[in-house]
Amino acid sequence: MPKAAVIGAGTMGHGIAELFAIAGYEVALVDVAEEYLKRALQNVEWSLKKFAEKGQIKEDVQTILSRIKPVVNDVCRAVGGVEVMVEAVVEDIEVKKKVFSEADRCAPPNAILATNTSSLPITEIAEAVKPERRPLVVGMHFFNPPPLMPLVEIIKGKYTSDETVKKVAEYAARLGKQTVVVNKDVPGFIVNRILARVNEAACWMVARGEATIQEVDSALIYKAGLPMGAFILMDFTGIDVVCFIGDAMLKRGFKSHPCPLIVEKCQQKKFGVKSGEGFYKYPAPGKFQWPEVPKSAGDRIDVSYLLAPAVNEAAYLLRDGIATREDIDKAVKLGLNWPKGPLELADEIGIDAVVKTLEEWRQKTGYEEYEPDPLLREMAAKGKLGKKTGEGFYTYVKAEEKKLETLIVRYEPGIAWIILNRPERLNAISPKMVEELWKVLDEIEQLDYDKVRVVVITGTGRAFSAGADVTAFMGATPITIFKTSRKLQMLFERIESLDRPVICGLNGYTLGGGLELAMSCDFRIAAETAELGQPEINLGFIPGAGGTQRLPRLIGRDRAKELIFTGDRIPAREAERLGLVNKVVPADKLEQELRSFANKLAEKPPLALAMAKYAINFGLEAPQWVGMMLEAAQFGILFSTEDVVEGVSSFLQKKKPQFKGR
Ligand code: COA
Repeated sequence: MPKAAVIGAGTMGHGIAELFAIAGYEVALVDVAEEYLKRALQNVEWSLKKFAEKGQIKEDVQTILSRIKPVVNDVCRAVGGVEVMVEAVVEDIEVKKKVFSEADRCAPPNAILATNTSSLPITEIAEAVKPERRPLVVGMHFFNPPPLMPLVEIIKGKYTSDETVKKVAEYAARLGKQTVVVNKDVPGFIVNRILARVNEAACWMVARGEATIQEVDSALIYKAGLPMGAFILMDFTGIDVVCFIGDAMLKRGFKSHPCPLIVEKCQQKKFGVKSGEGFYKYPAPGKFQWPEVPKSAGDRIDVSYLLAPAVNEAAYLLRDGIATREDIDKAVKLGLNWPKGPLELADEIGIDAVVKTLEEWRQKTGYEEYEPDPLLREMAAKGKLGKKTGEGFYTYVKAEEKKLETLIVRYEPGIAWIILNRPERLNAISPKMVEELWKVLDEIEQLDYDKVRVVVITGTGRAFSAGADVTAFMGATPITIFKTSRKLQMLFERIESLDRPVICGLNGYTLGGGLELAMSCDFRIAAETAELGQPEINLGFIPGAGGTQRLPRLIGRDRAKELIFTGDRIPAREAERLGLVNKVVPADKLEQELRSFANKLAEKPPLALAMAKYAINFGLEAPQWVGMMLEAAQFGILFSTEDVVEGVSSFLQKKKPQFKGR
């Protein structure tokens, strides 16, 4: 059994140990006293039971729990034979250094030593170990609570090797986490720096008398779409923690001016939910209740004013090479649950508007941290203003979009996107969705190849589709179910016979009818986080929209039976191994990957693609010699097209062909 060690059994430590145990590691969990370890194990057991109730762990609670070995105050013993250690002790550099030097002495020479610090320098911690080990010391910053929060920030110190970063990303993936890489050891990394800017902006607005706490929180929730307002979130996490992290960041050179309202709360020990009062009052210490924040309160607040300092910070992180554009946005979306990242928001607000707002901040406060980042100024000067000009931090393709009841249909040059859009029902396929899909497919087939050459089907939210809408099955008669089944089958056959390639982008759960839809597409590209399955058996029935036929054709009879008989969900990687999906990509790269594959196909001769699709899809269902005849006939037909002339003559002239679909 692979071994890991977690040092420190507090909130973070025991959560991290739980993750390793779930992933099949034997974990030594260290703390200074027996009683802390006992409590930690109780907490882990409680959390595992919750996972078990939701069917989110495969083994039983005690089996997993038994893999955690409590060790009292002996780092040396704990790290014997481990692949990796994660330290999560108090945020005190001396204590951390002691842990690392002891671990260095006793851990195998190739073991990775990671710290979960949120405020201390990785480089300094690394200096507590022998020079040979320093490349193996890295930051692995989990979010609270580790079992539930999907993000890990991987931080490179001065000595950390790329190999170590790669390995830590693999460990994090095994623990079910997504990662971002922070290339330089800056205080606060990505998430805490961005959050600090929002908290400061919110607080200064109130401190200057420009708005009330409710007004600011309301604007952040209802206008910016954040899950919590800045003040509610500070109350929730603990204002003492906000002060502590803020101080630590400030000491290490983060340019900021602590806002008096926050400092005051810390001095008064009004820490938020934990003490029963912070910016809001709560029924009792430790008892959270949503404070009253009316939607209308934020009406007059300009959220871009609140968000501009966070955008400025994000621009700095990008310009200085601390993180990539994608990682900055991903970190904020996963770490803070924002619907969009700060750079995506900047493109929506407009870079010119952000610069103007920051100048206003700078002028009002006199503080250097609000000086617009040179990158923002450069973009503004070059007219890269975001969505409105088609280019900002990201580039935007001109798209024409329409919203139906259950679908979003977006036409980009060459590509039609059909986006299943019932996220609150995990995109379950309702009769209305079936009707709309038919209509849209018909509409697309009528369109000229100049407009659409490839179709992409994907979903909004957590699912591609969790299956046929089971609520439509209630009270139905066998004959209506038969008809429903046929209707879905025919819809999926329609996709197989559509005259252009259809790519399915599996962004999340792809279950039951969702998988049957996906299997009728010509290609399936899945996000790493997607899960696939035919769970019908668990409801007492069987796949009824082609699952029993297409699945065995794709992955073989007996593998298909295994999936259909057990109803198990399998992760995207396993589906890739089985040949059920063509490719698996990180979740935040899915759209980009779909677009780039679709664009590649869009350059090919459309009629030849259609003929190839027919020869394969129909030919395979016939005896081979019938299929051969079909192939020959279609091969022949193509010699009536202009595209063949274009293809062959371009080849002879050594130039790139421009196919027209004629
Ligand atoms: N039909 C109708 N509604 C569905 C659905 C389906 N196939 N799948 C999910 N939903 C609904 C849920 O009922 C829930 O609605 P609610 O908020 O009103 O309770 C909502 O979508 C969110 O799903 P939920 O179950 O709360 O999410 P989860 O993350 O806990 O679990 C799944 C996700 C996919 C594991 C779970 O929803 C599931 O097992 N769905 C059914 C899959 C299935 O059997 N498909 C085959 C049907 S033929």
